[in-house]
Amino acid sequence: MMIANKVDILLGLQWGDEGKGKVVDYLSKDYDIIARFNGGPNAGHTLEFNGIKHALHIIPSGICHKDKQNIIGNGVLIEPCIFLEEIESLQNIGYTPKDNLIISNKAHLILPTHRLLDAANEKAKGDKKIGSTLKGIGPAYTDKVARTGIRVGDVFEKDFTEKYFSIKNLHINQIKSLGFTPQEFSISDKTLEEYEKLWFEAIEEVKTFNITNTEYYINQKLQEGKRILAEGAQATMLDIDFGSYPFVTSSTTISAGVCLGLGIAPTYIGRVYGTTKAYCTRVGSGPFPTELFDQTGEQLCEQGHEYGVTTGRKRRTGWLDIVALRYACMLNGVTDLMLMKIDVLDNFSQVKLCEKYSINGKEIDYIPYNMSADKITPIYSSYKGWMQSVSKIRDYEALPLEIKDYISAIEQKTGIKVKLISVSPDREDTIIRQ
Ligand code: GDP
Ligand code: IMO
Ligand code: MG
Repeated sequence: MMIANKVDILLGLQWGDEGKGKVVDYLSKDYDIIARFNGGPNAGHTLEFNGIKHALHIIPSGICHKDKQNIIGNGVLIEPCIFLEEIESLQNIGYTPKDNLIISNKAHLILPTHRLLDAANEKAKGDKKIGSTLKGIGPAYTDKVARTGIRVGDVFEKDFTEKYFSIKNLHINQIKSLGFTPQEFSISDKTLEEYEKLWFEAIEEVKTFNITNTEYYINQKLQEGKRILAEGAQATMLDIDFGSYPFVTSSTTISAGVCLGLGIAPTYIGRVYGTTKAYCTRVGSGPFPTELFDQTGEQLCEQGHEYGVTTGRKRRTGWLDIVALRYACMLNGVTDLMLMKIDVLDNFSQVKLCEKYSINGKEIDYIPYNMSADKITPIYSSYKGWMQSVSKIRDYEALPLEIKDYISAIEQKTGIKVKLISVSPDREDTIIRQ
């Protein structure tokens, strides 16, 4: 009898953009199936290989391996126009994603008015806005939970158009109740009517993809002994329950989300790979205890090219926050750490780790209930920088002593071993520790 395999998970432990796309692409060779379980076009995952740099939003990062099956799970949100743009841009670099992509019939659709509503909600919040990517994520997940959403499988139903217009009207009333009109907002520089036309055309194209009950498919493949990697979007500190609420996204970004977003029982979860940058970034509003507002922060931004893949916004930067990292490891049950972008620290004579927070003179080593209201002062320990380029190093033993000290401090403070060290954006520039 074949023994069922487990599903390994790769997810972000910070505020997103840790380099998940790079690692999933790198690890894909060891898996048969790569599946997204949460988020949608708010994600921007970058792959770099053979001189190609490619960004993905809804499609899993295993798509550039033609022999690997990729799954968009039920927990993901699909915006048909953005999805098709992604398909086209993959075709432009020689891939035929239709051949190795399956979409869950239970994934929810993002409607044009979800995007308008996202913009209206943000405008209504004024200077308290979340800094949403404006892709309609919050409103689409709201409809899912309110049981008014439209699922991918609905596109084959007779009443699809009727359903669409009834929800659209609901959204327009919601926009009006916020004191705005739909005409005040645009979607990709188009009016609602212009965009709606494109959206319906895109739906016709989406229908030609392999749409099925992916929960059966995945469980069948597990029984057949296939290896599955679940790819997280966003990250732990943006999780709807445990992130820096309300400055979070609207999905379960932690490992528990894999069960919900793919239809896998907890008994089938295997290793949990947690990605963290060697420092910290955040894009959008919300608390960020180790944020740097000085020249060091600027240097991190410039050397890390910290500009958002989805929105182009400049990312906020700071030192690695061990308090948040420990919290994330605990919530996800991380088994292995993947330390990304260590090369960005190549030119710093000193690097720091935030060990504790001080709030009103009291030292704490946990995430406080209200990260926003409390004035947190980070308490740092300092480490000597290595002041040399490490991007061409492939062997852990060849890394400068100072990096090894920094890594062992992270391991000691989190209690988790660093399994992978990433030294450049390229797939090949990766060190695996045996
Ligand atoms: P994701 O959302 O977690 O997939 O990460 P993003 O793609 O949004 O952002 C990570 C950025 O860092 C991308 O531009 C990657 O190409 C880049 N990157 C990934 N790993 C490394 C690394 O080890 N070093 C450097 N310098 N850049 C990296
Ligand atoms: P990846 O998968 C970084 C942030 C937004 C905003 C908040 C809510 O590339 O790591 P939303 O559009 O979800 O309603 O925005 O979450 N955010 C991300 N930040 N990386 C992401 O994804 C993000 N997805 C959402 O900037 O602060
Ligand atoms: Mg990203």
